[in-house]
Amino acid sequence: MAEYHIIVCSSTNQMLRAQKILREQSIGIELIPVPAEFGTVCNTAIKLASNDLEKVQGIINKAEIHLNGIYPLKPRKYESIMNALKTKRLPKFTNILQKIQNQLDLTVDELTYLLASDDIEQELFKVADRMRAEIVGDEVEIRGAIEFSNFCRKNCDYCGLRRDNNQTVRYRMQTREIVDLAIQMRQAGIKTIILQSGEDQWYTTEKIISLIKSIRSETGLRITLSLGERTQKEYEAFRSAGATNYLLKIETTDEKMFSDLHGGELMGARAQHLKWLKELGYLVGSGNIIGLPGQSVSHIAQDLMFFKEMGIHMVGIGPFIPAQGTPLENLSPGPYNLSLRTIAVARLYLRNVFLPSTTALATLNDAAQAKGLEVGANKLMIIATPERYRADYCIYDNKKAVNMSDAISIVKTLNRRLPNTIAEEI
Ligand code: 5AD
Ligand code: SF4
Repeated sequence: MAEYHIIVCSSTNQMLRAQKILREQSIGIELIPVPAEFGTVCNTAIKLASNDLEKVQGIINKAEIHLNGIYPLKPRKYESIMNALKTKRLPKFTNILQKIQNQLDLTVDELTYLLASDDIEQELFKVADRMRAEIVGDEVEIRGAIEFSNFCRKNCDYCGLRRDNNQTVRYRMQTREIVDLAIQMRQAGIKTIILQSGEDQWYTTEKIISLIKSIRSETGLRITLSLGERTQKEYEAFRSAGATNYLLKIETTDEKMFSDLHGGELMGARAQHLKWLKELGYLVGSGNIIGLPGQSVSHIAQDLMFFKEMGIHMVGIGPFIPAQGTPLENLSPGPYNLSLRTIAVARLYLRNVFLPSTTALATLNDAAQAKGLEVGANKLMIIATPERYRADYCIYDNKKAVNMSDAISIVKTLNRRLPNTIAEEI
């Protein structure tokens, strides 16, 4: 079996310097979310083959890169899996759990089996929940989303904000209004905000930069951008202005489905954006939709493999919800159980990542968002968009607007922990 080491740098800047220098010297490296035992999920580590270790150490020393350390990537034994293995299970399930315990990669067939099998569902949920507790703990991250514009130049078949949907009433928020909301979010104890919009070129590079700078200087909040596709140069400029996270879903990794749903666009092009974002040192979020037309369980298994390969830090998994005024308006919503299972399998397979219990899941049924947190998820997103715009941010029908008190009550009911910046009573 190949052996690996990881380099954990003292800061993102140092990590990016190290990445650049090692790539220039043609060392095969990968950026991965730092394993839990070496820091928070929010750090990125550089993974390398142990065979290259000596050479890499020389390069790093010469370049005077500041490190926390270089560590062997030892297989970690999970108690959650050890416990699950103690009782008798179906042999196939046992075998897969053992592979996870031994840090072996799963095949597409094994992932498909985990996603598709009714008879192991309860066991799967239980072990995913325990693994979540073991790896990321009981705290539920709470992020605040400001949906600041619903104009979109794209025409995704599933989305209510698509360009050709003339039933959507469009709005744009001004910089001051957005910054004021960010200030309120900070006062409510939120540490990271998500600035989300359709692909709206009205917000030029300069406008977005000035928005980022104002939010950073007036609130110090961490900023996740979710603006759709922009140019590599823009990603770089936004990163320099102070944005640290970027959310860009792949939606599906199946090339045919991707281009059918996106007017002929290529999945590989979207994946290239994710690569750029990683290379610029963003913490990158992605995700998929469960229940798209033509999607099979093995497509979903392949999506999970893609997230692993790309070293994605945050994976938003949500069911398809039909949206009025779109070509898919008459389809049924995506399957509830498969959505939950995908979260559970993502936890077992991707391990040290943020998994939100998504708004789409909350929209599917009232208990679903709490359930997501019980099968592997560790994050909730609250909607901070002002009331008067909310109904118009109609990505899909009846989109639920989870607010801070909903989030607090879900977390308390589940006996989980709120971030320490958030007061229990509001
Ligand atoms: N159902 C579920 N998710 C959707 N999204 C857009 N439309 C739908 C839908 N009908 C999600 C996509 C996109 C994000 C903005 O919302 O994953 O990335
Ligand atoms: Fe636009 Fe995003 Fe909706 Fe596609 S999913 S139409 S890019 S808002």
